Amino acid sequence: MNHRGGLVVWAIILIPVMLAAQIPGYGTEIESRIDAMVAQMTLDEKIGQLQQYAGGESAEHREMAAAGRVGSFLNVRGAESTNALQKLAVENSRLGIPLMFGLDVIHGYKTLFPIPLAEAASWNPELVERAAAVAAREARACGIHWTFAPMVDIARDPRWGRIAEGSGEDPYLGATLAAARVHGFQGMDLSAPDRIAACVKHYVAYGAAEGGRDYNTTEVSERTLRDVYLPPFAAAVRAGAATLMSAFNDLNGIPASANPFTLTDILRHEWGFKGFVVSDWNSIGELLNHGIAADSAEAAWRALSAGIEMDMEGRIYKNALPGLVERGLVSTAAIDEAVRRILRIKILLGLFENPYTDPDLEKQMLRTPENLAIARQMARESIVLLKNDKNILPLSRSARVAVIGPLADRQQDLLGTWACEGEAGDVITLLQGIRSAAVKPDLVLHARGCDVLGSDRSGFKEAIQLAKRSDVVIAVVGESADLSGEASSRADLALPGVQEQLVQEVAATGKPLVVVLLAGRPLTIPWIAEQVPAILMAWHGGVQAGSAVADVLFGDYNPSGRLPLTWPRTVGQVPLYYNHKNTGRPTNEQKWSTKYLDWPITPQYVFGFGRSYSTFAYSHLSLDKNEMGPRAMLTVSAVVKNSGRVAGDEVVQLYVRDLAGSVTRPVKELKGFKRVYLEPGESRKIEFTLGPGELGFHDAHHRHQVEPGRFKVWIGPNSAEGIEGDFCVR
Ligand code: NOJ
Repeated sequence: MNHRGGLVVWAIILIPVMLAAQIPGYGTEIESRIDAMVAQMTLDEKIGQLQQYAGGESAEHREMAAAGRVGSFLNVRGAESTNALQKLAVENSRLGIPLMFGLDVIHGYKTLFPIPLAEAASWNPELVERAAAVAAREARACGIHWTFAPMVDIARDPRWGRIAEGSGEDPYLGATLAAARVHGFQGMDLSAPDRIAACVKHYVAYGAAEGGRDYNTTEVSERTLRDVYLPPFAAAVRAGAATLMSAFNDLNGIPASANPFTLTDILRHEWGFKGFVVSDWNSIGELLNHGIAADSAEAAWRALSAGIEMDMEGRIYKNALPGLVERGLVSTAAIDEAVRRILRIKILLGLFENPYTDPDLEKQMLRTPENLAIARQMARESIVLLKNDKNILPLSRSARVAVIGPLADRQQDLLGTWACEGEAGDVITLLQGIRSAAVKPDLVLHARGCDVLGSDRSGFKEAIQLAKRSDVVIAVVGESADLSGEASSRADLALPGVQEQLVQEVAATGKPLVVVLLAGRPLTIPWIAEQVPAILMAWHGGVQAGSAVADVLFGDYNPSGRLPLTWPRTVGQVPLYYNHKNTGRPTNEQKWSTKYLDWPITPQYVFGFGRSYSTFAYSHLSLDKNEMGPRAMLTVSAVVKNSGRVAGDEVVQLYVRDLAGSVTRPVKELKGFKRVYLEPGESRKIEFTLGPGELGFHDAHHRHQVEPGRFKVWIGPNSAEGIEGDFCVR
């Protein structure tokens, strides 16, 4: 990778990013305030600002706070605990610099929303932003200033458990939602009592872990880095993200937590980032394991000089930086620059003026009816209807329903990974949701059938008997919350345990069957996809999941979620993503084309796919020009009609293909989408604009260019269907 080359070109191309890269409330006038503070600080106080500890409950932590030897704590929460520590920092330390409290508020604080991957399936940035704003309001009311979110890692491999935490495989959708979440958390004013600072993570390419194994090595070409993995980070920085977190992974031989190319050249020089970077948990210490630092001092030196300002929990900065400064290996100017970045965010958060949290806010802000209503809407919009043969859904409210499966009545699992302060007791399970929607609750019967894991089939009999006595069976199967998320990669993506056998035996009763999948990732379900007439993907849907699923099952809500990833048939197909290259031998009937001998090359469900209780027809693709210059803008439109009998939302998607470039180009790339509500029979013209941002890519020299040549364009309901046109860039 050429580090330094191309900076000038990048400076020109990325001017839009740099100009907009403004953290809310930032103005150069605060710099003199920072200068004055830094001028008063001792080296120990400065290094203290660069250190973050987890917990905050120990005597040692309290002493550090009182001595001004810590900049931030993570995992301390609640007005009482945060205020107590803050008091020590503000009232006892020499300079009274306030602490910043960070926490993983990933998909809600107390009101838990669907996991981020599920939220991505809504393709609704406005709603995702509102969900993040609710999380911010609840968290700030409980003393939290800073969330370690959004997680914007592109993931093309569902074995990787952390796919649950991001927005899936696509850079365009990922970038759009990254910006939405940053806006939702931060708003226009970080010091507002209902906003918190965002921390965009994990910088960068963490999702490219080899074999889908968490923490594993990544090898990503600079072009793929720039075209695929960086765009969501760039979008988040452009949206004003205050901080970033460096990732655990080794990236092309230089760990992401010691990588000057990504942390300094790209982030600071190209994008003009003014905030600070925190390491991941001891990721500076882990540089020793990576074998890129011989000792802690070298690790600290590498991390700081690469561009990491704050050491999360590792204590490497605290222990090593004083000696490095003394030996002249780290300059005071480098330490000062790191301190300045951290103080900048503390000032913008208003912590010097308002260091404490009003304890009364806690009760007023949490789980309000408004927050729960947004959670329900978010959960509804995240559900993807994968199959609905013979319109078996929606169900009649007076049907006798057997709700079977190990996840049908599990509260904790619906919270998903990173449950934050979510409480299992607040969760509406699917069984509860279905019971309250049914005409009579006692029409709804339940049997677990089996556990999520294990081989015990002793419950099958009861489940089958219930099925026989019912009009319809709803099988709620999938993954418990602990099977996705950090350190939760799986080599097998099938339904765990004997759940598939349970579904098969229940299906054998001949009763109409609906499978509801709850999981943090797509599961390989070829038998179910083939044999079961109706399938819903409902992820881990948060506190309102049960009501939202019932809304869909009984037709109170017409499902509108679309897959934010490509759903494999078998684990042997992964990595599998729609925006792949064509190869020299694209798949065809011949043996000598790219394919497998034993499985189809196609996915189970394509990226962008999702059904509705209605149908939508696409027509009248129109382009306002057929030829254009590389800097021009093109308007593309199509007419979308609700050709079915119920009202509903359609997610209209626009894809392009650059047919011949100076480097190979993906077969399709999402470059626009709009969610539209249409009454039965209603038509609407949907317009998109394409310009250099959408048509450009990084060429052989990593310059962002729109190259002359022919492009195809599609507007359609997913990445495999749609109406097609073309145009030429001169
Ligand atoms: C490690 C995880 O990788 C990161 O996502 C998280 O924010 C930190 N731990 C803090 O909990």
